Amino acid sequence: MKPSTIAIDGPAASGKSTIGYHLSRYLAYLYLDTGVLYRAVTWAALDREIPIADEAAITQLAERLHIDVTPPTEVDGRQYTVRVEGCDITWAIRTPEVDAAVSPVSAYPGVREALTRRMREIAALGRVVMVGRDIGTVVIPNADLKLYVVASTEARAHRRQLERQTKGEHAEYEAVLANLQQRDQIDSSRAAAPLKAAPDAILFDNTDLTIEEMLKRAEKLVDDLDPNECM
Ligand code: DC
Repeated sequence: MKPSTIAIDGPAASGKSTIGYHLSRYLAYLYLDTGVLYRAVTWAALDREIPIADEAAITQLAERLHIDVTPPTEVDGRQYTVRVEGCDITWAIRTPEVDAAVSPVSAYPGVREALTRRMREIAALGRVVMVGRDIGTVVIPNADLKLYVVASTEARAHRRQLERQTKGEHAEYEAVLANLQQRDQIDSSRAAAPLKAAPDAILFDNTDLTIEEMLKRAEKLVDDLDPNECM
């Protein structure tokens, strides 16, 4: 049997989304990059000028906001379409302003509770690859396959810089590195569901792997759980 629920966690720019998206296509499963839910709440707070420090107001927003994540509705390089109250914010949640505010928003326990509830509803349907920070530890601790994806901070900063430059944005290596280090620090030291590997997760270090090698290795991990395949 193929794993029906796959949980992939790891720090920012570690390659977890690339692996998760690839596996979702490989298996024809639903793909949910859970960071987009935290980003959508952050975007909506900035858009409505709700102060990021106002925990009660941000929590209320997370509980009420109508967020939809669907397969891509445009052919512009997106892996999915994200809508808030019907408005397409797929690219708007990737700005430096959202990057800067999303970690504190995702540290609020009430926000996590509201969004975790939604993630579990989706996971309960099965045939899903879910990517985030606490998927294997909190959201679906009984997932069939858990990966914890890591790469050196320098490798991650180079990748993120390249990603930004490919989109035509200006990105200084030092600034990207500092932002990643700061987010790692907030994500792993917060009290609510900190970033850490589940004890039964497979550690997947891809610092020295090419993208092709990384994806082949991910496919093999899935196939190895399914010994009857191709016999
Ligand atoms: O993966 P990302 O960079 O899009 O995540 C955005 C933020 O959301 C990041 O600060 C970590 C947080 N996050 C989280 O706390 N739990 C998740 N399951 C997914 C993301």
